[in-house]
Amino acid sequence: MKIFIDTAELREIEEACSWGIVDGLTTNPTLIRRAVDGKSGVDIEAYIERICRTVAGPVSLEVASLDADTMVDEAMGLYRRFNPVRENVVIKVPVNTSTGGEASDFEGLRAMKRLSDERVPVNATLVMTPEQALLSAKAGAKYVSPFMGRVDDFADTAEESQDVIGAMPGSRLVREIVQILDTYGLECEVIAASIRHVGHARAAELAGAQIATIPFRVLEEMIRHPKTAEGIRRFTDDLVPEYTQLLSVLGRS
Ligand code: E4P
Repeated sequence: MKIFIDTAELREIEEACSWGIVDGLTTNPTLIRRAVDGKSGVDIEAYIERICRTVAGPVSLEVASLDADTMVDEAMGLYRRFNPVRENVVIKVPVNTSTGGEASDFEGLRAMKRLSDERVPVNATLVMTPEQALLSAKAGAKYVSPFMGRVDDFADTAEESQDVIGAMPGSRLVREIVQILDTYGLECEVIAASIRHVGHARAAELAGAQIATIPFRVLEEMIRHPKTAEGIRRFTDDLVPEYTQLLSVLGRS
């Protein structure tokens, strides 16, 4: 499984890249806000360019408008400006931008279709059901991002989720999407997203998700174990001076 980092914080990105485990990155407007809020005089264009330069793998940048025409304009603008930096830009398009008012439910799919026809790679975001994933893949999305944490939250708020046919926990959502895309041979990779803890990351691995996009804090949790720390203490205590001396001599040679 590939690991993307789910952040726009340069400090976190540079640190995680130095561990050799980052295959790509995802951002969204909230993550960008978190990264630049309170930092006066941030040049957002230079900041995003630096993110694209730092990551050796796909970098998802999200559109902000709610209608297909403007989303496509924004996507093309982002792609033209940042893709030349390292040829790694993917455009994130919400699967459905309607908030229940007049706007159509299908602007996201329309934008995905037009962008994929232009060979701009699309990451369908805010995916909460297998059906949204299937429709996104059919509209040409290269990636779909099921939101594990948010559907778990939704399943927990029982009353609201009662009205949604087939509401399910995040682990099952990822598993079913992987299975459906595979069954129909759709060329679309699953990015398990909205990961809140190590359990989500492990469920994504077991479900066969091609990718999980993981916050920095959860990556830190993934490397720690009390018995590993105990083992290190024990090995350190047990070192004989002769062995320490040998290592030091060989290390300098
Ligand atoms: C995915 O690409 C999103 O950026 C992200 O996983 C959103 O997760 P959240 O539910 O923690 O906001």
